[in-house]
Amino acid sequence: MSHLPHGGTLVNRKKIGENTSNIQAAIPIDEIGLSDIELLANGGYSPLTGFLHRRDYESVVENMCLEDGTVWSIPITLPVTKEKASELKIGQKATLIYEEKVYGYVEIEDIYVPDKEREAEKVYQTTDLEHPGVRNLFERAAVYVAGPITLTEEIVHDEFQSYYLDPQETREEFKKRGWKTVVGFQTRNPVHRAHEYIQKSALETVDGLFLQPLVGKTKQGDIPADVRMQSYEVILKHYYPKNRSFLAVFPAAMRYAGPREAIFHALVRKNYGCTHFIVGRDHAGVGNYYGTYDAQRIFEQFTAEELGITPLFFEHSFYCKKCDNMASQKTCPHDASHHVILSGTKVREMLSKGEMPPPEFSRPEVVKVLIEGVKEKVGR
Ligand code: ADX
Repeated sequence: MSHLPHGGTLVNRKKIGENTSNIQAAIPIDEIGLSDIELLANGGYSPLTGFLHRRDYESVVENMCLEDGTVWSIPITLPVTKEKASELKIGQKATLIYEEKVYGYVEIEDIYVPDKEREAEKVYQTTDLEHPGVRNLFERAAVYVAGPITLTEEIVHDEFQSYYLDPQETREEFKKRGWKTVVGFQTRNPVHRAHEYIQKSALETVDGLFLQPLVGKTKQGDIPADVRMQSYEVILKHYYPKNRSFLAVFPAAMRYAGPREAIFHALVRKNYGCTHFIVGRDHAGVGNYYGTYDAQRIFEQFTAEELGITPLFFEHSFYCKKCDNMASQKTCPHDASHHVILSGTKVREMLSKGEMPPPEFSRPEVVKVLIEGVKEKVGR
């Protein structure tokens, strides 16, 4: 099993403390931009060193690979307004500014107007503005600036700072623990029994479990990142072996691009040092835009060598009262009337009324965190 990062070398674009005061041009970035520069700088997006040039962008949109053939499924782009673009020149540096603070700079190598309709159609399989990823795509500015970035200021987070580990650090941690095989888990939700079931089923076949809840921008209605993380802290304490599981955050923004995002999530986890990656039902999906197992089927389009990380697929899992166990259609012969299945919407509804989802759905310790979290967050 290869432990190499995607493309062979772990990228590092950090020059913390480098003086940027002589750089004239400046580009304001949004929350998605900030998480993108964090992951470009720390090597999470290896082999990318910056925002995609037009040719790489078009190749990613059309063929899910960079111009040189390396698999990459989600365009990483830096949008600027037409007015801003008219001030910028190729060959120039521009600082990257988030909430009035300079975090680094981009060396501008390309400036182009993307075909966003095409990007939406290919990446999200829809141009519907109700889709949260498509909405972000169209709400962001019209012109893309491309080139390598350098991070000159460490991004400090208000919460969970100790859970922000760079790929270099997680790789060292896995090595220290003697894990040769590590399965990565992506999530944007608080942990429930089905998550626990697929995580532990996967863990039965590898050395370690790397839990990496996403904490970048999510859509309205998703449970906030701090509640998500607290749910993991409490479940790890009570139900997971310490020497076999490891928790850190994934600073990326959610794209809700379903199948394309499953590939992206797997490749980035490979950079963090994972050898395996869990893909369950409707991975990174939203609404009814993708089929339940589309995010698994997309992996058939690539060879094991092209990906360099092994996906582990799981059927829709649930608690079966007849089996008295967690199960899926693969392992349970009983009909749906025996299955405890709750939608995310239903759970949020119950929580906002202070009702406990049943223990077959969620561990009571987790439910407590959720009820507290929802109470605190109402109106936030
Ligand atoms: S996601 O947007 O991050 O994919 P979520 O946090 O719900 O959303 O899912 C995390 C992972 O668990 C994904 O791989 C998803 O496919 C899987 N998953 C979630 N619920 C189930 C379930 N009931 N059965 C099987 N897999 C599931």
